[in-house]
Amino acid sequence: MQTNKSCIILAAGDGKRMKSAKPKVLLEVAFAPMLKWVLDAVVKAGIAPEHTAVIIGNEAELLTNWLSKHYPDCKTFLQSERLGTGHAVMQARDFLKSRTQEGGDDVLVLCGDAPFIDSDTIESSYTLHKSKGHSVTVITADLVHPKGYGRILRSESGGSVDSAISTQTIQAIVEEKDCTPKQRLITEVNSGAYWFDTRLLYVMLPKLTTANKSSEYYLTDVVGLANETAGKPVGAFKSENSYITLGANDRRGLRQLNNIAFDIIADKHSDNGVEIIGECYIAKDAVIGSDTTILPNTVIRENVTVGIGCSVGPFAHLRANTVLGDYVKVGDFVEVKNANIGDKSSIAHLSYVGDSDVGTGVNFGCGCVTVNYDGVNKYRTVVEDNAFIGCNTNLIAPVTIGENSMTAAGSTVNKNVPPDSLAIERAELRVKQNWKLNTLRRAKNAMKGQGKKEQ
Ligand code: UD1
Ligand code: CA
Repeated sequence: MQTNKSCIILAAGDGKRMKSAKPKVLLEVAFAPMLKWVLDAVVKAGIAPEHTAVIIGNEAELLTNWLSKHYPDCKTFLQSERLGTGHAVMQARDFLKSRTQEGGDDVLVLCGDAPFIDSDTIESSYTLHKSKGHSVTVITADLVHPKGYGRILRSESGGSVDSAISTQTIQAIVEEKDCTPKQRLITEVNSGAYWFDTRLLYVMLPKLTTANKSSEYYLTDVVGLANETAGKPVGAFKSENSYITLGANDRRGLRQLNNIAFDIIADKHSDNGVEIIGECYIAKDAVIGSDTTILPNTVIRENVTVGIGCSVGPFAHLRANTVLGDYVKVGDFVEVKNANIGDKSSIAHLSYVGDSDVGTGVNFGCGCVTVNYDGVNKYRTVVEDNAFIGCNTNLIAPVTIGENSMTAAGSTVNKNVPPDSLAIERAELRVKQNWKLNTLRRAKNAMKGQGKKEQ
């Protein structure tokens, strides 16, 4: 972690348009809060959480609780009135001041509701920012549909340039509402992410005004002010990845972000040699080995590891804290949670395996259930190597099935089974011969026939 970089994440937006009781940045994209995507990228780019400030809004208790659990070293600053992005950054002026004193020369500002910012973009834009000696580097993108975004006014043409990394300086950022019809045609937009010289940002914030169509303090006005006063140029880092600009204003937008996220995640696994067939819903932190096949409608939640050569799905659900070894099969309508499944084990159909430690070469028949919860506590099930769990077995935890042991189909097992044993719990089957079913059926059919004749 480098000490000369800091970050401010704007996250004071509420969930009103989302119709949610949660702050917007805690709404999830691919099973992770949007803020987690952003913070993970920041940390991956080498900026320490203790050098990161998050601007939070009113009723942000959920947000501070989440941060204290997942990123306890982040600083938080309350913006009690939502008066614009510039006003949001003003709440962290003390942070900017102390960071300047500590040698935090440059500060990255990000939107907490734009989850696809990535560490490569953060690092490459920083390299440009430093090598060109910029006072501000705006991370921009060219969009086919720039509607709603702030437009980038270049100093020469006022339009956009083709090169990914431009040497042209930026004159100003104009919000869509404040654009002239000609400016509205510009396709290069402000992603809402920027590197600032920390001292310059600190000095410029008090100069922002609300003289615009929205009567808000625009952070983007720092660009114009920096051009008027500072000696150093304002530049742009134009990203090839237009997804970095995407945020969600409502649930429809959030759904789109989810679709994009699941695609990005699936692409990453495809590139690593995983075969993904059809639609799958994989959390961003899943680790999946090569030659594993993920079949349609599989859901893989956070903190899951799958080994090489496995087959998962269709319609499988790997919940949090699941580890599958190599060459494991988890078939259709199988749910695995908080469990370790050893190499070459198979849970092929319609089973629930939760809170369990399963050895290698274990076979679960169809319809097996680990009975892990008694309404108060959860208990673990242990199944040792090469055990065979017969169809429709209930394993009442805590319980251990020894190595090479077998449970008979339909058994409910509530005692430990030693190795090399058979556990069978089954009432004797009774067969009653000459049962009356056929007599009853004949009588029923005869009645139906009479009814038809009467019509
Ligand atoms: C902002 C930029 C625009 C850019 C766009 C990219 C300004 C003036 N405009 O516009 O140029 O193209 O982002 O998405 O900055 N926030 C607060 N407190 C506030 C206002 C906003 O914390 O008082 C947070 C929001 O929660 C959000 C972020 O700042 O995370 C951006 O705010 P938003 O209102 O979405 O800005 P835009 O109008 O989209
Ligand atoms: Ca926005």
